Amino acid sequence: MPARVILDTDTGVDDALAIVLAMRSPELHVEAITGVCGNTPLDHCMRNIHITLGVLDPPAVTEVARGEDRPLVRELAFAGDIHGADGLGDVTRMADAKGVRIYPDPVQRISPVHAVDLILERADRHPGELTLVAVGPLTNVARAIMRDPDRMGCLRQIIIMGGAFETGGNVSPVAEFNIHADPHAAQIVCDSGIPLVFVPLDVTRQAFLDAEMIDRHAKEGGARATFVRDCTARYVAFHRRNRGVNGCFLHDPLAVAVAVREDLVTMVPARVDVETAGDLTTGMTVADLRSARWGEPNARVCTALDVQEFARMFEERVLS
Ligand code: RIB
Ligand code: CA
Repeated sequence: MPARVILDTDTGVDDALAIVLAMRSPELHVEAITGVCGNTPLDHCMRNIHITLGVLDPPAVTEVARGEDRPLVRELAFAGDIHGADGLGDVTRMADAKGVRIYPDPVQRISPVHAVDLILERADRHPGELTLVAVGPLTNVARAIMRDPDRMGCLRQIIIMGGAFETGGNVSPVAEFNIHADPHAAQIVCDSGIPLVFVPLDVTRQAFLDAEMIDRHAKEGGARATFVRDCTARYVAFHRRNRGVNGCFLHDPLAVAVAVREDLVTMVPARVDVETAGDLTTGMTVADLRSARWGEPNARVCTALDVQEFARMFEERVLS
């Protein structure tokens, strides 16, 4: 029986690759995809979800719902420099020799139900079975917890792409983007009592996609590999310029992969909290992975990755 998941995403480039991996993993049944602001404004996120689903052959059908268009407290802060003005590597600007858009605006089928209501309804409908894979800021998740903590308590677990524990941040020396974008939401999730798994930069920076592998598969002409090449071109250029690597990190796809196979990673129990008020440290995930001396664990934190096994899964399911 496939595991029931909802993917909550701020569909940027690596989010799109996570959507493809989730939809092509038979171990998962994607009940819904919920959009949240983060990498890009919510309207772009919703369009990007539909463009990505349209690339899958046959176009994958799943419920898509709009969520929160701003963080709980902090100001909006997008990542256009990394994910492009459209949030999807600027593929919406790509055109053929005749000027015809290669990725035209898709027909969007958006649920009349708000993402927060949809998450609560599905958690209640499938008690103990539903995993929420959150690969954007945790605004939708926190709103659902605030609205009905009991129903959210029916979730099997929340797998969070977020945080930086024994490594530096990516939006500040200590903070990772998803947590930093809405630290108040992240702390609400940490206090919820729901089983949590953090998939932090400590392991996602080992989840590397080599540009040469992308090109090798794109040359075979498949729609998925071509889309991966098109939407990652800018993202790879950012990594070349700023990280000195010829490829890109697959932050969000790794969170999906953990939902498929927990044995890909090593996890340790820890008490995780989030700095919400520090001048220098806002958005920092605060935990001591060496011991539980600072409080009862509220999460499992991924600390190591089977790099080859993940790379094989991603190549087989997304690129081939
Ligand atoms: O820090 C990486 C995370 O921030 C990923 O989810 C990426 O999509 C951005 O949202
Ligand atoms: Ca994301």
